[in-house]
Amino acid sequence: MEALRIYTEKPYRLKGEVTISGAKNAVLPAIAACLLTKEKVHLSNVPMVKDVETMLTLLGELGAEYQLKKKSLEIEVKNIASAQAPYKLVRAMRASILVLGPLVARKGKAIVALPGGCAIGTRPVDLHISGLQKLGANITIEHGYIVAEAKKLKGAEIEFDKKTVTGTENLVMAACLAKGETILKNCALEPEVFSLCELLVKMGARIDGIGEETIRIKGVDELCGAHHRIIPDRIEAGTFMVASALTHGDLILKEVEPTHLETIIDKLTISGARVEKLSRNSLRVIGSEEIKPQDVTTAPYPGFPTDMQAQFMVLMTQANGTSIITETIFDRRFAHANELIRLGASIEVQGDKAIVRGKTPLSGAEVVATDLRASASLVLAGLIATGQTTINDIEHLDRGYEKIEEKLRALGVRIERLKNNNNQSGVKK
Ligand code: EPZ
Repeated sequence: MEALRIYTEKPYRLKGEVTISGAKNAVLPAIAACLLTKEKVHLSNVPMVKDVETMLTLLGELGAEYQLKKKSLEIEVKNIASAQAPYKLVRAMRASILVLGPLVARKGKAIVALPGGCAIGTRPVDLHISGLQKLGANITIEHGYIVAEAKKLKGAEIEFDKKTVTGTENLVMAACLAKGETILKNCALEPEVFSLCELLVKMGARIDGIGEETIRIKGVDELCGAHHRIIPDRIEAGTFMVASALTHGDLILKEVEPTHLETIIDKLTISGARVEKLSRNSLRVIGSEEIKPQDVTTAPYPGFPTDMQAQFMVLMTQANGTSIITETIFDRRFAHANELIRLGASIEVQGDKAIVRGKTPLSGAEVVATDLRASASLVLAGLIATGQTTINDIEHLDRGYEKIEEKLRALGVRIERLKNNNNQSGVKK
């Protein structure tokens, strides 16, 4: 297992510029959407992260031909060779569930392993399944697999019991090739859903209400190829914004979409950081000497993103006072708290709340990453924990952050990747 080691004799003040990559959570549904057409789709600004590799491996098994180089992806699914998404890939990446809707719509059949839970929660997919059943799919669960069949999906009215990002994405994609009109209510409003709908419209889908809670889709017989640019990763951007606030830094973020960052900007401003919009796609974040505590509750977009909760918790460990962080989306998303406590933080988890008492000095230690965003929070903590911090099981981080150690090194951080975890440090002490 690989690790990242950060050497912090004295806390860093991040200074300089960082370019944000394309969004993992936008490119994964976009790749799944390619199943809906036999023509070529071109995606640009693709982040070179592990989850993209996994998704492309899955698409390859389903019959896709693709070429990915220098962030440009060309993908063509002339025909569906197999309708089965195997457990080994679904277990590696829950987002594999995104092939369910497109496969049923295009092929009339899908056999997708149940994703099961993960480090942040139980992660059910009941809303994906019930939605497809309402579109006429016959679905059974056999030996841990979702087996879905439908000669031809038929439009229907579906209201989600709760906002689900990939649930909305799955149903929008399925409805594009259904017969008649589908009305989806209580849809997720995340920018990644919006961007997927834009791609589908470019492919010839007929979608109204993009970006709204009610989306109407008029089914068409087939979709065509398209060109589409993946939107910036608002969570990577938020992670670097917190890094600047945490280290009293002065950081310019390029290739961001400020309108996707409004709640993150609000919370950082309340904590004392200064955020300036430099242009349509760049921001400057200047950290303040004193970090103010504040309560944060995660919520579906446009609320404060659950994917930023772990990173914000690190910032609150350095605030002068107590902050209460409430996690409303997932039932087990505080695993990072125990690791932060090992670095010296004072955090008490009570159900869906984490009470963070600051300001606590952090000191470097060996820690272990449990999931993607928890890993990011440990990297942030390593920037201010005196001494060296070794973050183990860094494969989680590689799933969603492109070249993070290179980006941090360019900002002055002494960071290195350790293969197999023993200390092959090339860094002179
Ligand atoms: C997406 O996951 C993201 N992943 C997650 O990002 C993100 O944390 C999450 O949305 C919330 O914003 C991708 O887009 C690939 P949900 P998703 O369905 O779609 C419940 C990251 O770190 N629910 O919006 O799986 C569910 O349990 C990852 O990049 C059901 O009950 O999340 C949760 O409580 C982590 N039944 C809530 O809805 C269902 O059928 C929101 O989940 C589906 C979801």
